[in-house]
Amino acid sequence: MRTQHILITGGSGLLALNWACAVRQQCRVTLGLNRHDVKLAGVDTLRMRLDDPHEFSRQLRELAPDVVVHAAGLTQVDQCEQDPVSARFANAEIAKTVAQSVDAMGIRLLHISTDHLFSGLESMYGESAKPQPLNEYARSKLLAEQWVTQASPKALILRTNFFGWGFWGRQSFSDWVIYGLREGRALSMFKDVYFTPILADALAHTALKLAATGASGVFNLVGSERISKYEFGLRLASAFGLPQQLVLPSHVALANLKAPRPPDMSLDNRRLLNQLGEPLGSLDGWFEDLRKQELQGRREELLKAVEEASAR
Ligand SMILES: NC(=O)c1ccc[n+]([C@@H]2O[C@H](COP(=O)([O-])OP(=O)(O)OC[C@H]3O[C@@H](n4cnc5c(N)ncnc54)[C@H](OP(=O)(O)O)[C@@H]3O)[C@@H](O)[C@H]2O)c1
Repeated sequence: MRTQHILITGGSGLLALNWACAVRQQCRVTLGLNRHDVKLAGVDTLRMRLDDPHEFSRQLRELAPDVVVHAAGLTQVDQCEQDPVSARFANAEIAKTVAQSVDAMGIRLLHISTDHLFSGLESMYGESAKPQPLNEYARSKLLAEQWVTQASPKALILRTNFFGWGFWGRQSFSDWVIYGLREGRALSMFKDVYFTPILADALAHTALKLAATGASGVFNLVGSERISKYEFGLRLASAFGLPQQLVLPSHVALANLKAPRPPDMSLDNRRLLNQLGEPLGSLDGWFEDLRKQELQGRREELLKAVEEASAR
C-alpha cells in the first residue's frame, strides 16, 4: 500500500522525474508542473501556480500532501547570470511563497539547495561554512535558503549535486558523458573542478529517511567522495564500458564560461551520516545503479515523459 503523499515542484525537472521514479512504488507522488507537461506511469501531475500564494495554497489544501519537495527553479548558471531578475524570482521569491504556504499548513518541506554557494577556494565545506556566492545563480539560491529558513523553520534545506537520466530538453552531466562517448566524441573535462556527486535516486531515498528522523535545517546531502569532473568522466566511462581515451583532461579557465564558478564545490556530509546513523552508497555503486536503471527502461521512459512546452 502507498502511504506517504509527496508533492514535488519543478515536476518536469531532472531531479523531480528521477525522485518520482525512485519512490512511486512506495509513495503517492504528485508532480507540480509549470510550462512542460509530464506523463509518467504511476505518478499524478498538476499544473501549479507557485507564483500566486493564494492559488498555490488552495491547490495545496486540495492535495493535502504529507511532504513537499521544492525542486523548481532556474538552474542554468549562465542564464541566471544574464537575467538576475528572473533568477531571483524563480529561485528565491517562489521558494519563499512555497515555504510560507507549506508551513502555514503544517506540512514538511524539503527545500533543494545547491553546492554552489561558496568561493571554492577550500574543499569539503561544512554546513556552517560561510557562503561566498560567486554568481547570480548562487546568490539567488542563498537568498532562497535565508527566506525558507525564516518562513518555515522546520524545513530541511538540502545542499546537493546529483546525476541521473535526463530527457531531450534537460541532460544531466552523466547523460552528456554517456551520450557523447557513445557517439564517439572526445570530451574535455575539467581536472580542476571538484564536487561530491550523488545519484538522484539515492538523494531521494536519503532525503526521505532524513525527514523521518525529524531533522530540520541545513544538511549537505551529497556523496562521500570528492572527485574532479575529469575523474568522474573516466570512472563513468569505465562503468559503462565506454572508451576512456575519449575523456580528455581540461582546465576550467579554457572554457570561457559566462558566469564565474567555484573550482571546488565539494561538501562534507558527516552531519547527514551522523543523523542517519548509517552509511551512504558509493559512487561506483551508483554508477552500477545508473546502468541497471537503463537496462530496466528508465532512460527510455524519461525521454518520452516530458512534452514540449505549451503556452500557459
Ligand atoms: N542539476 C544539478 O546537478 C543540481 C545541482 C545542485 C542543485 N540543484 C538544485 O536542484 C533542484 C532541481 O534541479 P534540476 O536540475 O532538477 O532542475 P531542472 O531540470 O532545471 O528543472 C527545473 C524545474 O523548475 C521548473 N521551473 C522553472 N522556473 C519555474 C517557475 N518560475 N515557476 C515554476 N516552476 C519553474 C521547470 O519547469 P518548466 O521547465 O516547465 O518551466 C522545471 O520543472 C534545483 O533547486 C537546483 O537548484 C541541481
